[in-house]
Amino acid sequence: MPLLKRSNELSLEKIIPLSTSETLRNNFIVLDQELPANIRFGLLLEIMDTLAADTARMYVNQFYKDAIVVTAAIDTIIVRNPADISKDLIFKSRINYVGKSSMEVGIRIEQSNPQTHIATCYFTLVARRGPRDNRVNIEIPTLDYIDDMEKRRYQKAIERKEHYLAQKNLESQPPSLEEYRLLENLHESQKDPNFNGLLASKLSLTSWERTFPAYKNPNQTIFGGYLARRSYELSTMCAELISTKRPIIAAVNRMNFLNPVKIGDKLLFKSNIVYTHKSFICIETTISRVGRYEKRISNLTDSCLFTFVNVDEKLKPYPVETIYPLTYFEDQKYLEARRSLTSIISEIKDGLLKDSDIAHFD
Ligand SMILES: CC(C)(COP(=O)(O)OP(=O)(O)OC[C@H]1O[C@@H](n2cnc3c(N)ncnc32)[C@H](O)[C@@H]1OP(=O)(O)O)[C@@H](O)C(=O)NCCC(=O)NCCS
Repeated sequence: MPLLKRSNELSLEKIIPLSTSETLRNNFIVLDQELPANIRFGLLLEIMDTLAADTARMYVNQFYKDAIVVTAAIDTIIVRNPADISKDLIFKSRINYVGKSSMEVGIRIEQSNPQTHIATCYFTLVARRGPRDNRVNIEIPTLDYIDDMEKRRYQKAIERKEHYLAQKNLESQPPSLEEYRLLENLHESQKDPNFNGLLASKLSLTSWERTFPAYKNPNQTIFGGYLARRSYELSTMCAELISTKRPIIAAVNRMNFLNPVKIGDKLLFKSNIVYTHKSFICIETTISRVGRYEKRISNLTDSCLFTFVNVDEKLKPYPVETIYPLTYFEDQKYLEARRSLTSIISEIKDGLLKDSDIAHFD
């Protein structure tokens, strides 16, 4: 059989038939009520990650039968439209770009009648080989970018890489004068003897869990999607610490998976409310691991930011309280989240909240 080396050929589709399966609807619904955006987004993250890995393996296994792929990163996801629990979910994947050992797989989630774009997400996966405890990254042949569309996909993938690095650099810059004054005001307010604002230090949740063999994927490791789902679920509960209505997910910032999880590891998920703005609640979540016979804790991911909007049953946004950072670390997190939200807020407003009155909200 000829090798598949064009992005046009390296594509998969998965349908979750919610319209015809009550069992699936029961599994995917969040609240037992008729509401827009009432779908477990964490499950969508998991399905996307599995499909991304299947798509990448379809490519890599043509050259190395024994190679596996691991998720290195899930790029920023902006939710474009609320999903409808009564309609099928259609996931379409495609490899856009192949580097030396890494690949970018794009996944688009849609629903039909009328055709609705729910979200698009880009996964970076790395090809690896070798014994389970001693795997190494492997070089894989590059794709053939032949028609205009394939060249465009390649170019966009490169631009996304560059944009991520530029944004990361921007978010770690020292405070501007305006930011400095904002933090100063937030600190000053806390000196008032009658201050009763929400302290950032009090707004956190943690959760420990152990990984069992039942969770493992064909690589004998834990899926990035599983970790993304668990992070999302804890983040939602954390957002509920201050939401007055229902927090729905508007965006997930990039997640980088730094180290693999092994079966038997203990995982620590930590979520903190780091920033609020009008109806937006930004939660930072990190995942760490402790090996079964180890005492040392190490980071599995760098921090990931989940942006929620506090909405009523018609997706009308409602403001949440301001939160108050105090320590240097809380200030830093506050500013990082503020900068990050500023960079995506117009996309959120053009997407999920375009029909609500959020456009007039700041
Ligand atoms: C992903 C991983 C294999 C990278 O290993 P590494 O030795 O640090 O790799 P390198 O820095 O040499 O990078 C290898 C390739 O991956 C890419 N890469 C690594 N981390 C990346 C990230 N966070 N985002 C995008 N690309 C990344 C590099 O650009 C490089 O691409 P190229 O070979 O096409 O030029 C390693 O960090 C890891 O094992 N992470 C855990 C993966 C995992 O188990 N995921 C599932 C859930 S935890």
